[in-house]
Amino acid sequence: MSVLEIRNLHAAVEGTEILKGVNLTLRSGEIHALMGPNGSGKSTLAYVIAGHPHYTVTEGDILVDGQSVLDMAADERCKAGLFLAFQYPVTVPGVSVANFLRTAVSNVRGYTEKAAAAKNGNGHSGVIGSNLMPMREFRKELTEKMKEYNVDSSFARRYLNDGFSGGEKKRTEVLQMAMLEPKFAILDESDSGLDIDALRVVADGINKLATPDRGFLMITHYQRLLNYVKPQYISIFHGGRIVMTGGPEVALMLEERGYGWVEKEFGVAEAA
Ligand SMILES: Nc1ncnc2c1ncn2[C@@H]1O[C@H](COP(=O)(O)OP(=O)(O)OP(=O)(O)O)[C@@H](O)[C@H]1O
Ligand SMILES: [Mg+2]
Repeated sequence: MSVLEIRNLHAAVEGTEILKGVNLTLRSGEIHALMGPNGSGKSTLAYVIAGHPHYTVTEGDILVDGQSVLDMAADERCKAGLFLAFQYPVTVPGVSVANFLRTAVSNVRGYTEKAAAAKNGNGHSGVIGSNLMPMREFRKELTEKMKEYNVDSSFARRYLNDGFSGGEKKRTEVLQMAMLEPKFAILDESDSGLDIDALRVVADGINKLATPDRGFLMITHYQRLLNYVKPQYISIFHGGRIVMTGGPEVALMLEERGYGWVEKEFGVAEAA
């Protein structure tokens, strides 16, 4: 079992404090949904966990199985088992989905390290691509997983997110997650912009990946994703921190009452 712990996390971007004391514990096997008004800092939390260099942690800690990840660069955090699906995925023209995934998977599974060790050791190095997962093995796995997660096989050759529709981007993210097999996945609005069929495909993918050895933090605005993916916990994010945690009933209550009462009860979010 693994644990992701966020302790009294404060973080700033360009000198403005956005996160103001976030506390959250996510264990493997759990799905925890995070809901909250626009601008409350949900995406900021996701970026800070992933190690985006733009954000500065000013207080608190993020731990995976008791080990702080704050000093780790984004790729090291990936290796430590953290995965972030962005609200606005970046486009990478010139890098195909297959190449991107092969590089990422090789990093996470330690091929890159093995190659470096070989270089320093017995000299089995210098082969181009020796730091990558063997092509044939990779291809086989990719083809299988594309089938399993309903991603059209033509996507392997396309440039990452280049010209992808909103729904295609989100499906590709589920594929990334299936390939990288993280301990903890943070999904930032994986439901936004999806039509009903795509929502089901993405939700099915998440459910398949929601095994007892993996935890999910799902940032979402709408109850509708939660009709398909069932979180055990739902937290309300407001003014840079979690103000309330409950069960599935929290989402229904928000759907009914909106966020006005949150503001009344927990104070107006200080202007950033
Ligand atoms: N680079 C930045 N410079 C200045 N302010 C920023 C920067 N990035 C984020 N912010 C501010 O931080 C606050 C939180 O933004 P964030 O994107 O985390 O909100 P959110 O909860 O994800 O909102 P949404 O529901 O709209 O996605 C916002 O007021 C935003 O303007
Ligand atoms: Mg956001």
